[in-house]
Amino acid sequence: MKRAGIIGWPVSHSLSPLLHGFWLKQLGIAGEYVRLPAAPGNFAAVIAQARKDGFAGVNVTVPHKEAAFALAERKTPSALQAGAANLLVFKDGIAADNTDTYGLVQSLKAVALGGKTAVLLGAGGAARGAVLALGQLGAAKIHILNRSAGKAQALASALQSSVSAKLVPGALQTWPQVAGEAALLLNSTSAGMKGNDPLALDLSALPPNAVVCDIVYNPLQTQLLKDAAARGHQTIDGLGMLMHQAVPSFEAFYGVRPEVTPQLRAVLEAALNAA
Ligand code: ATR
Repeated sequence: MKRAGIIGWPVSHSLSPLLHGFWLKQLGIAGEYVRLPAAPGNFAAVIAQARKDGFAGVNVTVPHKEAAFALAERKTPSALQAGAANLLVFKDGIAADNTDTYGLVQSLKAVALGGKTAVLLGAGGAARGAVLALGQLGAAKIHILNRSAGKAQALASALQSSVSAKLVPGALQTWPQVAGEAALLLNSTSAGMKGNDPLALDLSALPPNAVVCDIVYNPLQTQLLKDAAARGHQTIDGLGMLMHQAVPSFEAFYGVRPEVTPQLRAVLEAALNAA
């Protein structure tokens, strides 16, 4: 029986067990995928126990992605670029990977971003992977707008050498000045997440053919996406990134590359709607 799981705090609402469980059943693999709650300070102990228990590896979520990166003896280029890991594989020690950037690239693949400008909201951990993803998608310029402009500046300085896109940091209030340039608006802030304030953004200056994406998936239709859809914009919700980031993890744990399908999306949507 191959074992894997998700380590985080809190981890009770994670959709990852449902997602990996769907693939295990679909592919007829004798495996399990469990929740591993680990309070801050308890991360290394829970990892040590999982290794003792014969786990193939774990996914890592908030607040442990930096600790997971620090703990690993080997790091993939994407983990090194992100400075954070959402996947640890227990083989010849601990190897760290980051599949969040890959997940976002796959989710945004249909957007023709080559040579265009993207506006990224947020400058936290999720924004870091988002800058790398937008760079990989060929954006020529990325405005990084954050509530505290200093963090946008720091993120742009840290990542400019990793992407060929021109990174332009600024304050969230400057949104109306840059909106007209955007081919893509991407929210990576935690605003709009269940329990948080929604993101109140005036979309009137956004070109009609601009795509609006939110990496928040709970709720699936954030206020930002509702506002964008009401104005006729194509929208992309956060579930695509969630499903795609899980593909390389599942393959690392169970040895088979699974597929993202409408059936998988339907199962996850039903769980979100029931919550
Ligand atoms: P994550 O790892 O999910 O990115 P984080 O590192 O805590 O989490 O970052 C959260 C991001 O959401 C930050 O960019 C934060 O802005 P500040 O740096 O100014 O705090 C942003 N954020 C959270 N709530 C917000 C809100 N109500 N309006 C605008 N931005 C918000």
